[in-house]
Amino acid sequence: MRTLMTAMLGTALGAALVLAADAAAGKATYEKSCKSCHGADGTPNAAIAKALKVEMKALGGKEVQAKSDADLKKEITEGVGKMKGYKIANPDDVVAHVRSLKK
Ligand code: HEC
Repeated sequence: MRTLMTAMLGTALGAALVLAADAAAGKATYEKSCKSCHGADGTPNAAIAKALKVEMKALGGKEVQAKSDADLKKEITEGVGKMKGYKIANPDDVVAHVRSLKK
């Protein structure tokens, strides 16, 4: 089991090093894992914001876009405020997709 996981991790890391960020792959992950709360175009889902009692910012807006790629990646994978971190396989691709939402 451990060997299998190490092999899988190695493959994922290798792929990440070879491929530059792929916004199309990021979009696919975004639609699966993020869209329900953040909307297809980064506009927050008002019902989620209300349920969690938090002011969600548009991902395409100035404040979020002003963050560095490294900060966005950290927030996405480790969590930020009321959002838990998401263990997605291709965080760099998702960051590239979030960049494409810029208004
Ligand atoms: C269950 C709902 C939910 C899902 C799914 C979700 N988020 Fe979030 N996200 C939130 C909430 C709520 C916040 C605001 C957290 C706070 O400020 O307390 C947030 C904040 C963020 C922020 C920081 C925005 C800011 O205010 O600066 C980023 C970036 C982000 N999410 C990206 C993502 C990405 C990418 C995914 C998919 C991998 C994702 N989120 C999945 C609910 C969600």
